[in-house]
Amino acid sequence: MRTSVGQPVRLVDYRVPDFLIDEVDLDVSLDRTATRVVSTLIIRPNPAASDGAALTLDGDELTLVSAHLDGAPLDPEAFQATPAQFVLPNPPRGRFTLTIETRLDPASNTKLMGLYRSGSAYCTQCEAEGFRRITYFLDRPDVLSTYRVRIEADREEAPVLLGNGNLEGKGEAETAGRHWALWTDPHKKPCYLFALVAGDLAHISDAFVTASGRKVDLAIFTEHGREERARYAMEALKRAMAWDEKAYGREYDLDVFNIVAVSDFNMGAMENKGLNVFNDKYVLASQETATDDDYANIEGVIAHEYFHNWTGNRITCRDWFQLCLKEGLTVFRDQEFSADMRSRPVKRISEVRGLRAAQFPEDAGPLAHNVRPEVYSEISNFYTATVYQKGAEVVRMLKRLVGDEAFRAGMDAYFHRYDGQAATVEQFVGCFAEVSGRDLDRFMRWYRQAGTPKVTVRTAHDPAARTYRLEIAQSLAPTPGQPTKLPATMPLALGLVDPEGGDLPLVSADASEAELASGVFVLDDAERVIVFRDVARRPALSFLRGFSAPVTVDDDLTEQDLAVLSRHDPDHFNRWQALQSLVTRVLLRGVKAIRAGRAPERNAALVAAFGALIDDARAGRIDPAFAALSLALPTEADIAREIGENVDPDAIYAARKSLRGALGRKHGDALADLHDWLADARPFSPDAESAGRRALRNIALALYADGNIIDGLARAHRQLRDADNMTERFGALTQIVLKPSSAREHTSDAFSRRYAMEPLILDKWFALQAHIPERETLDRVRGLMSHRAFSMSNPNRVRALIGGFTGNHTQFNRPDGEGYAFLEEIVVGLDPTNPQVAARLLTAMRSWRSLEEIRRGHAEAMLRRIAVLPSLSPDVRDIVTRSLG
Ligand code: PHE
Ligand code: ZN
Repeated sequence: MRTSVGQPVRLVDYRVPDFLIDEVDLDVSLDRTATRVVSTLIIRPNPAASDGAALTLDGDELTLVSAHLDGAPLDPEAFQATPAQFVLPNPPRGRFTLTIETRLDPASNTKLMGLYRSGSAYCTQCEAEGFRRITYFLDRPDVLSTYRVRIEADREEAPVLLGNGNLEGKGEAETAGRHWALWTDPHKKPCYLFALVAGDLAHISDAFVTASGRKVDLAIFTEHGREERARYAMEALKRAMAWDEKAYGREYDLDVFNIVAVSDFNMGAMENKGLNVFNDKYVLASQETATDDDYANIEGVIAHEYFHNWTGNRITCRDWFQLCLKEGLTVFRDQEFSADMRSRPVKRISEVRGLRAAQFPEDAGPLAHNVRPEVYSEISNFYTATVYQKGAEVVRMLKRLVGDEAFRAGMDAYFHRYDGQAATVEQFVGCFAEVSGRDLDRFMRWYRQAGTPKVTVRTAHDPAARTYRLEIAQSLAPTPGQPTKLPATMPLALGLVDPEGGDLPLVSADASEAELASGVFVLDDAERVIVFRDVARRPALSFLRGFSAPVTVDDDLTEQDLAVLSRHDPDHFNRWQALQSLVTRVLLRGVKAIRAGRAPERNAALVAAFGALIDDARAGRIDPAFAALSLALPTEADIAREIGENVDPDAIYAARKSLRGALGRKHGDALADLHDWLADARPFSPDAESAGRRALRNIALALYADGNIIDGLARAHRQLRDADNMTERFGALTQIVLKPSSAREHTSDAFSRRYAMEPLILDKWFALQAHIPERETLDRVRGLMSHRAFSMSNPNRVRALIGGFTGNHTQFNRPDGEGYAFLEEIVVGLDPTNPQVAARLLTAMRSWRSLEEIRRGHAEAMLRRIAVLPSLSPDVRDIVTRSLG
């Protein structure tokens, strides 16, 4: 059991470690059930701490075999060891060597933390606190050491032996049939970046020459027979390496860079120094098996982990409260990389959609927490959208506030000053305050206050005075533990769009030259008034361009304004946003009407806006990827969030379905034509341009089928048959499976048989089944749990089927509460074997308070049933407690 059970850890209690560990020598002799780890640590008292302290090393479910101090066996009286701790009450005063032997059973490690087995390979996962499951250690990120690691294993079972850093040597072991490899990592690192992998793996290799001429050997390891599917990831890796040199002047710093794809992984991927370990879904791709989204995700995650080498590894976090220091920053870096590789506005729209879907509900519910939290009881539960995605938004705002040049100078200063150290958010932001001369104290509130700020903007045009007045105000509602909030500095990008289209020049005495020139206005206080001059005709306000701050906006735009912006806003993000806002307004009225027993309205302006969009797309006047995003209606969850309270998922579904049907019927011919026109005769390519056409083709099919079910399904069957790639095939299958028809089961089964040996494809199929908006879906999901490809011990399968079901807005939120009861059963059943994944699944309850009364009652009852169980993991206990709090 963990040491921290029940006791929350607080940022204010941070103390430097009493001891430092300069060198770590590990001798790991791998065996499925009896792995031996001999760890030799060179330890000294920390000069920055007060002396005389006992040495307390962390452990987690460890079995001690022996302990030596400076080469001599330790007297049993001289130390205490439990599975969770190793204590030396009277350690030597100076430098000393501690040798500890532990025995591990990787085969029964189902938590996938520490040393475990994935398929036939051994692998490790140490972030955040997994190293203590391998050996006793000061398992905290501010203890940095150099590592020398000898790995020994059966040659036949594990011909490949990988560690961090550079390969120093290899050879035959003394025991017959066994061999070893010695890896040394010259860069000091915290133990969470330790990794080893051993197994019978295939690989592809390549090389990269850095700007200063260092040749780096690159390799990606996979299961045998899948290695060719790592080619795209390899190309993405080289693009990422080149980009970090160009954008940030950062080069790679070892002779080898290895990536291993494993199929059992709790998260997306892990940035272990020189040895990244990936969930295989973020490595493996081929025309036949991967969708365009898969390709984009692979490019993004490969880059993300690579970028961690500087933002995370060379400069790490002082403590886990600073997690956003590496994660928010690295997400920002991977987002910018992808924006440079693909279409910037399209990338921005996808990011914001993701932020709103995953982070906004977190901020609006009981699990709300700061980007830089101040207390936690289980750190694994803080790898959240708030830390990652909102953390990235905060860095993006910082860049807008100080400008591109000062941002680069601030990053340079950060790398220069803190290289080789464990840093804090204050130190990071301090670099930008220094180089820009800007006061960033109020900006720091983004890290210290939870919740999504609301920005209200009111406009007034005075034709006689030719003025246009903006009254802007920010507010932030209380969140758990934070009853009062203060205004935070935010950049607000805006423009005034003339009814004929095009931006008006910005003239005002209430803003700086720089603001008027850039169109980015800084809101530092609760309120600000800006009066623009020389505005003859009332413009449409294009507010929060590019989503310049992670806020919600309450504006007074008319639907006419939104229609104008959706066609003419020079800012593409806001062009997309305007149509989304228009659709949202219509849908919100539709939900109200349905709940009042009336029919939802027919909105001619909206139908016309969609018609114009389809025409523009067909005529090649707009980017297909952009058109695809624009034609996608807000999701049910998006609408639920807008409603905010007393949510009725069935009414939302009905309103959305009615609008989809109307749009599909009105524009049937144009959509069919668009769908035909987008059929691509060229050979497949995963590039962004081709992907955009496929995305548009799939949405055209979906919208067409929504209004013309019989013909739509016929089209879908043709697309399924003719497609030469997974994006189009799965787009077609989606329509066939989500809509009831006599061919559904047969087609779906044929698909699953065709890909019986492809778990990553079956994951898509599991998730699709779980999304069917019908009452029978819960039973279907239960049935699929016995599918031969399903397994509760594989996180990807669980996330696909169970996680997929929790994303089915009507069926998970069934009025009879059966959806919640099902999740309860799963979470409680999975908790003993994989608490991290169990806890993550339970966060699907985070918005329970916004539901209408009956569902809310069922949800609360479910959480209370879990809360009273006596033997919950710290992970699930933490989520359930906070959810009810
Ligand atoms: N640090 C990983 C990342 O790149 C995420 C992770 C956290 C992976 C914890 C495994 C365990 O974001
Ligand atoms: Zn990361």
